[in-house]
Amino acid sequence: MHLSSLPFLLVLISGIFCQYDYDMGYFPDPDYPYVHSMMVPSTAVCAPECNCPETYPSAMYCDDLKLKSIPIVPAGIKYLYLRNNMIEGIEENAFDNVTDLQWLILDHNHLENSKIKGKVLSKLKSLKKLHINYNNLTEAVGPLANTMDDLQLSHNKITKVSANVLEGMVNLTVFYLQNNQLKTDSVSGALKGLKSLLYLDLSFNQFTKLPKGLPPALLMLYFNNNQITNIPDEYFQSLKALQYLHLSHNRLTDGGIPGNVFNISSLVELDLSFNMLKSIPTVNENLENFYLQVNQINKFPLSSFCKVVGPLTYSRVKYLRLDGNNLTQADLPQEMYNCLRVAADISLQ
Ligand SMILES: *[C@@H]1O[C@H](CO)[C@@H](O)[C@H](O)[C@H]1NC(C)=O
Ligand SMILES: *[C@@H]1O[C@H](CO)[C@@H](O)[C@H](O)[C@H]1NC(C)=O
Ligand SMILES: *[C@@H]1O[C@H](CO)[C@@H](O)[C@H](O)[C@H]1NC(C)=O
Ligand SMILES: *[C@@H]1O[C@H](CO)[C@@H](O)[C@H](O)[C@H]1NC(C)=O
Ligand SMILES: *[C@@H]1O[C@H](CO)[C@@H](O)[C@H](O)[C@H]1NC(C)=O
Repeated sequence: MHLSSLPFLLVLISGIFCQYDYDMGYFPDPDYPYVHSMMVPSTAVCAPECNCPETYPSAMYCDDLKLKSIPIVPAGIKYLYLRNNMIEGIEENAFDNVTDLQWLILDHNHLENSKIKGKVLSKLKSLKKLHINYNNLTEAVGPLANTMDDLQLSHNKITKVSANVLEGMVNLTVFYLQNNQLKTDSVSGALKGLKSLLYLDLSFNQFTKLPKGLPPALLMLYFNNNQITNIPDEYFQSLKALQYLHLSHNRLTDGGIPGNVFNISSLVELDLSFNMLKSIPTVNENLENFYLQVNQINKFPLSSFCKVVGPLTYSRVKYLRLDGNNLTQADLPQEMYNCLRVAADISLQ
């Protein structure tokens, strides 16, 4: 060992080393990973092709390496990045050194369900984040640990999310499933146990109806670019915290929207753009952003925004898009600003 590298190594390992009664002869040699791993479990051994930053020693970065399989993962790693490789499968023992892994990031690979062997993912008992966006999955992976917080499976070919895969994930807050091939029946029942789920993206799938049993805590719900024609009466009533609801690029018609289905008092933003609506659905007075561009709307009834107008009862809509409809300035009622008092931006063209 060169003496010149000593100060650096001392800084690197002093925190871990102080528990040992060491002398100079026991300093780890970087050329011998086994010795190294005994002495400095978390910082020193890194898969040779990967990068484990000194400042963030429990993370291993193996992005953009054309890897075809999971590299050796040494004990001590908690955050594993394997983005943009050519990984098709995961062997059953791949993570045996790191069953306490917390983040596993596998976006942009070629993973297929049949090549993710055995219980390799279920063995990760402390997993919080699992990202497998942009892969070749046909089903949701699992079962996964109940510690999961963030599950991202967008841009695959998923046609099925079984109920048992999500069972017990009481702390999951974010779930990405956009850009898959899900139909209504392929998720029904699977989602409702996700008690902490705040963010659910089911955009760019093949839903013709909304699924039954949405998780009750949702704050943001995205269903853009599906083929939804109608919404069941009182469908959103169980979602007491819902703030953002996006249903753009669907096939909604007036007949498919029961009178008060979008009159949701918690809602801040509603996107119904690119549908087939002829009238403006009734919304709650608390709504702030309302997107209705590119429909077939040809009238502007104020009663859609304000049932009654009074000192405290008026619409909070600030931003209203109506371009791409059959409406001109002349269609706007003169007394509009009694109701839409804070509307800063109403676009017609
Ligand atoms: C576990 O760690 C040991 C020692 O670093 C290594 O030899 C082995 O290949 C690792 N196993 C896996 C599956 O990564
Ligand atoms: C995904 O899987 C299909 C067959 O199952 C295969 O034809 C295709 O090449 C795979 N795509 C990628 C990106 O691995
Ligand atoms: C869920 O989160 C809470 C609070 O962080 C934690 O106490 C609890 O153990 C977690 N539950 C699971 C199953 O991980
Ligand atoms: C929305 O529903 C509430 C009752 O829940 C009602 O008071 C209000 O007038 C409705 N808003 C509109 C614009 O109809
Ligand atoms: C647009 O509305 C006008 C009346 O406001 C109606 O005469 C016309 O046919 C409508 N055009 C379309 C394409 O619906």
